[in-house]
Amino acid sequence: MSVLDVIIARRSVRKFRKDPVPDAALARVLEAARLAPSGKNLQPWKFIVVRDPETRNKLAAASANQTFLASAPVVIAACGFPAEAYPRLGRYMNSWPVDVAIAMEHLVLQAAEEGLGTCWIGAFEEAGVKAVLGIPDEARVLALTPLGWPEESPAPRGRNPLATIVSYEKF
Ligand SMILES: Cc1cc2nc3c(=O)[nH]c(=O)nc-3n(C[C@H](O)[C@H](O)[C@H](O)COP(=O)(O)O)c2cc1C
Repeated sequence: MSVLDVIIARRSVRKFRKDPVPDAALARVLEAARLAPSGKNLQPWKFIVVRDPETRNKLAAASANQTFLASAPVVIAACGFPAEAYPRLGRYMNSWPVDVAIAMEHLVLQAAEEGLGTCWIGAFEEAGVKAVLGIPDEARVLALTPLGWPEESPAPRGRNPLATIVSYEKF
């Protein structure tokens, strides 16, 4: 598929088959994250791949009890390291959330290319996720996603028209 075809086909998936994710597909998904751009190429990230069912259940509990998260055979937690990231993006912010979000979206799009489903999970309690996964103080958690074979084909969610989000030459 072209990049735009993958972008068009991707959906947030919240129902998964139990079939395992092949190692080769998982490796390509992670490779897509690894190749993401980042401020000054500092790559201030780490991705934790969780297959253990008990750990997945604990992550779902720490994510507002979104039990579908644990129903996928793999859960991935995307972490960032503020102290290792570019500190003055736009001269006002640390780049780590931007860097990790770009890498996460690379991961999500490669998953879609593989036919695998993901769902960006932002409704998690960071302290709970850190405790479950043994994430150190210096790392932050940006997002989680389930990864697995979709058992649903969600309809596209609407987006605002281009004319409302783009202007030319001036704001
Ligand atoms: C930052 C962020 C946080 C999100 N958090 C959640 C979440 O906690 N639970 C969930 O089910 N979906 C979550 N989503 C998925 C959105 O609901 C979804 O992307 C949006 O409704 C558009 O649907 P689509 O991804 O199928 O196009 C999140 C998405 C983003 C980008």
